[in-house]
Amino acid sequence: MRRRAFLSVLDLSSEEIQEVIHRAEGLKRRRREGDRRDTILEGKAFALVFEKPSLRTRMSFEVGLRELGATSVTYLAPQDIRLGKREPVKDVARNLERWVDGVIARVFDHRVLVEMRDVTTRLVVVNALSDLEHPCQALADFQTIHEVAGTFRVHLAFIGDGNNVAHSLALTAASLGTDFTIACPEGYEPRREVWEKALEVASRTGARLKIVHDPREAVKDAQFVYTDVWASMGQEEEAELRKRVFAPFQVNEELLRHAPDDVRVMHCLPAHRGEEITEEVLEGPRSVVLEQAENRLHAQKALLSLMFSG
Ligand code: CP
Ligand code: NVA
Repeated sequence: MRRRAFLSVLDLSSEEIQEVIHRAEGLKRRRREGDRRDTILEGKAFALVFEKPSLRTRMSFEVGLRELGATSVTYLAPQDIRLGKREPVKDVARNLERWVDGVIARVFDHRVLVEMRDVTTRLVVVNALSDLEHPCQALADFQTIHEVAGTFRVHLAFIGDGNNVAHSLALTAASLGTDFTIACPEGYEPRREVWEKALEVASRTGARLKIVHDPREAVKDAQFVYTDVWASMGQEEEAELRKRVFAPFQVNEELLRHAPDDVRVMHCLPAHRGEEITEEVLEGPRSVVLEQAENRLHAQKALLSLMFSG
């Protein structure tokens, strides 16, 4: 495939997303048998540029890059890099391009990623979460769905904020033919341009996409129920308001009584217990959240191996 940037899930075709997931499942099996070593990234150097905190994304990329044989992996913390403040984004990107082959970047403003891609010519740029999308999360999540259901032709219900995670899930669902319903409070729908794009893609794959404001309606025939924090990183000052607005959208036992008995519960983590999800549901038998977290490693290794070796 060879792609120089992965900023949105739609940077991959539907076939490429399926190929990444297929490869990720193979890498996972191999790793469980004790075989972790690859040489695809031998001699290559990477920078992890993070403007926000991270456990899963940072760790899974650091471990994954090493397992693929990368020679050098450097983490640049928010206080080190101060993108656009210590120096302009274009200077940071063009400097990095002289030393490293790829940048894995977590940013507040998606336009920073676009600029990094556009001012460079060779640098591989991967979105490790922006205000617009979290595409690496979506790859791992659809791997998890595929492992559980054996197909992408399922119904995924997202309960909560129409933000980055929901955007990437909606776009991936549209691309793979997965039915997707988001239940959110009025005013917290996905961004119009993202939803319109998702609808356009879905018109080709047959995925049914819906926005509703009643979480019970969303979960009633869902095989997977997904939620994310109500206040994302950078929205801390809205947290109290959002707690009130989103209160009817908690994923709890009462809500799951309206879903099929074998429904699985998903969350990208970190979770705020007692807010978007209860402890009981998060830790209960229907939860696949740790599988999702593990799959970040496999899906990202598969993505990088395809981006670098075709
Ligand atoms: N899900 C996820 O991206 O987790 P981190 O913020 O810990 O990387
Ligand atoms: N929507 C959340 C996802 C965290 C992985 C955020 O942006 O903070």
